[in-house]
Amino acid sequence: MFVKMIEMLKQNRKTLVFPEGHDLRILQAVVRLKHEGILEPLLLGDEAQVKQLAKDNGLDLEGIEIINPASYSRFDEMVETMAELRKGKMTADECRAALMKTNYFGTMLVKMGVADGLLGGATYSTADTVRPALQLIKTKPGNKIVSSCFILHREGPDGGERMAMADCAINLFPTEDELIEITTETAATAKLFDIDPKVALLSFSTMGSGKGESPEKMRNAVAKLKAMNLDFDVDGELQFDAAVSAEVGKLKAPDSKVAGCANTFIFPDINAGNIGYKIAQRLGGFEALGPILMGLNAPINDLSRGTNTEEVYKMAIITAATSV
Ligand SMILES: CC(C)(COP(=O)(O)OP(=O)(O)OC[C@H]1O[C@@H](n2cnc3c(N)ncnc32)[C@H](O)[C@@H]1OP(=O)(O)O)[C@@H](O)C(=O)NCCC(=O)NCCS
Repeated sequence: MFVKMIEMLKQNRKTLVFPEGHDLRILQAVVRLKHEGILEPLLLGDEAQVKQLAKDNGLDLEGIEIINPASYSRFDEMVETMAELRKGKMTADECRAALMKTNYFGTMLVKMGVADGLLGGATYSTADTVRPALQLIKTKPGNKIVSSCFILHREGPDGGERMAMADCAINLFPTEDELIEITTETAATAKLFDIDPKVALLSFSTMGSGKGESPEKMRNAVAKLKAMNLDFDVDGELQFDAAVSAEVGKLKAPDSKVAGCANTFIFPDINAGNIGYKIAQRLGGFEALGPILMGLNAPINDLSRGTNTEEVYKMAIITAATSV
C-alpha cells in the first residue's frame, strides 16, 4: 500500500516536524525514515536529552535536525506572527507561553514554511495536537471544516481489503452540509489509497425505513451530494448490512449502485464513527491508519498515545504524501 507513496516521496523530499523528540517510538521511526531516504525529519526538544535517549537506545541521529523552542533563533518573529494570527483571541504573552510547548511551536514551523507538515500525538491528546492546527493553519480554500478519516486495511489475496471511514475523530455531530464536505474529502483520501470510492452514508435506517432526525440528515445530505456531479457513487441512508452485503443490499435498496458493495463509510456522528472503526479494528482484524486529517491547509496528523514505531512510520509517510 505504501510502495507508491514512498517512491513519490523519495523523488520529492518533504520536511516533517515531530513535536515529541523525547519519545523513543518517534526516534525509532524517524531514524528509519531518514535512513531509507523517505523524508527529512525535524525533531523538537532539548537537544542533549534527545541525543542521550537516542544513544541509550543505539539510534544514530546523524543528519537529523533537532530544534529546542527555548533557544530557537527565530522565536521572537514566531511570537509576533502567531500574535498577529490570533489577534483579538490571544495576547502576545499568551502566544509566547504557548510556543514554549512543542505542539504550538511545531505548528508554527509549518505555518512559517520551515516544515511541510507535522506528526504529533504520541504524548499530546488529540485535542492538543489538533487545536493548534485549527487555530493557526486553518482550513484550505474552499473548505469550511477540518474532519478526519481512517483507512482500514486487512491483509489477504490480491492486496487484501481496504476501506475508508469518517468522521471518527473530530466533528462530534456534523450537520448536513458538514457531512457533504466530509464525504467529498473522504472520497478523495480513499483514492490516495487506491480505493475506488463507493460511498455509503450510514444510519440505523435504509432509504426511509426508519424515522428520525439522524436518518433524515443523512438522506438530505445524499440528495444534495447526488445533485453535485461527483466522480464517485454515493448513496444512503443505508444500514451497514445493506451497505456491505450484496444479499441485504439487493433486498433493502435494489436500485442502489452502492448498496452491497460500499467501501467508504460516512457516519452520522463521532459516537458511531469512533465505535465503528474500532469494531472493525479489534474484532475484524483490520489495521486502522489514522485519523488522517482532511481539509487543513497543511498536512498535520495525530497519533494515538498508544501508538508504536511501525504506526509512526506509516503515519509519517501518509502525512508527507498528502503534502505533495
Ligand atoms: C477538534 C477539537 C479538539 C476542537 O475543540 P476546541 O479546541 O475545544 O474547539 P473550539 O471550539 O475552542 O475551537 C478552537 C478553534 O478551532 C476551530 N475549529 C474547531 N473545530 C473545527 C473544525 N472541525 N474545523 C475547522 N475549525 C475548527 C474554531 O473555529 C476555533 O478557531 P478560532 O479559535 O480561530 O476561533 C474538538 O472538536 C474535539 O475535541 N473533537 C473530538 C476529539 C476527540 O476526542 N476525538 C476522539 C479520539 S480520536
